[in-house]
Amino acid sequence: MARLDGKIALITGGTSGIGLATAKLFKAEGAQLIITGRDEARLASAQIELGSETLVIRSEAGNLTEIDALMSRIKDRFTKLDVLFLNAAIANPAPIEDVTEAQFDEIMAVNFKGAFFTIQKALPLLSNNASVIVTTSITNQTGAPNFGVYAASKAALRSLVQSLGLGLIGRGIRVNAICPGPIDTGGFNRMALPQEVMQAIKTDISGRSPIKRFGTSEEVAKVALFLASDDSAYVVGEEIVVDGGISLVCLP
Ligand SMILES: NC(=O)c1ccc[n+]([C@@H]2O[C@H](COP(=O)([O-])OP(=O)(O)OC[C@H]3O[C@@H](n4cnc5c(N)ncnc54)[C@H](OP(=O)(O)O)[C@@H]3O)[C@@H](O)[C@H]2O)c1
Repeated sequence: MARLDGKIALITGGTSGIGLATAKLFKAEGAQLIITGRDEARLASAQIELGSETLVIRSEAGNLTEIDALMSRIKDRFTKLDVLFLNAAIANPAPIEDVTEAQFDEIMAVNFKGAFFTIQKALPLLSNNASVIVTTSITNQTGAPNFGVYAASKAALRSLVQSLGLGLIGRGIRVNAICPGPIDTGGFNRMALPQEVMQAIKTDISGRSPIKRFGTSEEVAKVALFLASDDSAYVVGEEIVVDGGISLVCLP
């Protein structure tokens, strides 16, 4: 029997990187899937990769009206949710002097507010032994120059996972986080930085990493599978770091 047989899973930000790799693994393990994203080309390509039985929905992660519409579509098609993976996020690095109020609000809306209200609005659909998984980031503890708002949004998520872990376990719903370090994804490579700057960042990070390389989306997806499945039945309010050890050498 596959590890997610009979389970219905929603993955926000499932059209690229960690979310897409997780969608493929969940599907291979028997789950029925709903994934979200924004970019039309990535939505179309994910639909082809995941097949017509996967519900691929354009939904803005930070917009409460769109979250309501997403939940309505899931309710109509599936009636319940067993796995909720809050993975959509933006980083938009910038020095503090350049960050506008609109940019600040967008990062917090997509990464934190959207995740909070997606969980809230999914509650009526969540089955009583559902697994909620949130993608955080090691920057929520290590910090990262030019990523202050992003790192703070991920720190807020880490805190939320603890409170909701306590608050929802009474219903049997487990809430946990996956905390990636540097992962070689489309999103990482699409950051608005000159090619030579990106290459210098990658060389620097790989050099400082105990494992001497970036992680892959598939390596993170395997941890998502653990948290989604009954294998993690006794794991509640936890944040699992998947970073090749780099936070060990970043933290004091
Ligand atoms: N890669 C890393 O090194 C790393 C490290 C630590 C944490 N993380 C976290 O891991 C998660 C996945 O990152 P990734 O590297 O796999 O990124 P990615 O390849 O860019 O994938 C991000 C996904 O989120 C979606 N998304 C972004 N903004 C959205 C919005 N406003 N509404 C709906 N969907 C939205 C994207 O869809 P569109 O492309 O259509 O917008 C895409 O499907 C994120 O939470 C990220 O913060 C990544």
